[in-house]
Amino acid sequence: MVDENRLALQLCGRKMPGAVSVDFGTAGMRHRRGAGHNELLGRAVGVGKKPGLAVIDATAGLGRDGFVLADLGVNVRLCERHPVVAALLSAGLAAGTAVADDWLNAVLARMQLTEGDVRELPHDEVAAADVIYLDPMFPPRDKTAAVKKEMALFQFLLQGVPADADELLRWALQKPVARVVVKRPAKAEPLAGLQPSHAIRGKAVRYDVYVLAGLA
Ligand SMILES: C[S@@+](CC[C@H](N)C(=O)[O-])C[C@H]1O[C@@H](n2cnc3c(N)ncnc32)[C@H](O)[C@@H]1O
Repeated sequence: MVDENRLALQLCGRKMPGAVSVDFGTAGMRHRRGAGHNELLGRAVGVGKKPGLAVIDATAGLGRDGFVLADLGVNVRLCERHPVVAALLSAGLAAGTAVADDWLNAVLARMQLTEGDVRELPHDEVAAADVIYLDPMFPPRDKTAAVKKEMALFQFLLQGVPADADELLRWALQKPVARVVVKRPAKAEPLAGLQPSHAIRGKAVRYDVYVLAGLA
């Protein structure tokens, strides 16, 4: 479904939630940086520890976390392997870039999307990053209508896709980056049973930080 210049996906059938699209220009996105859990995400990846920090957002989804990081000044390489999710994200990035808004344009200029499995990124691109960020988590994080419809969409699109988050963490930990950060539900076990160096805890979410080297 294309509405003006925006690509949107609508599940069909009775009682289906509304259409999902990616719009980085909304007031909600504009104010995300101020929300407590986003400040935690910034701390987890090490914002402020190194100028020009580069993060691979290995599970980009609809780009919300990647956008928060880019808004915090981070250069973000987004990877998304599901072609429909990647198309929505790509359309959202293009639409935001076309809006005459200096703040939005500057944030989006720090976000680059690669469609495909992050494990197929060229070695040089992985080596150029400081941090690999993983958010394989699907349980709903809050009950707002927008999040509910996105969760319904993800659950529909990703049926049958193998749950390989443990392998993804093991892959990330072997890469030449300074840290790997994993978003987890607050009370969940660490991915692959691997204890992090430390964790940054919010009410509903926890960031497990695996420190592999310094960020200087
Ligand atoms: C929970 S969503 C991420 C949500 C995202 N953090 C956000 O803020 O919008 C997880 C996404 O990771 C993608 N994904 C999972 N494993 C991947 C991999 N190995 N490479 C690239 N994308 C992957 C899935 O297709 C899914 O869209």
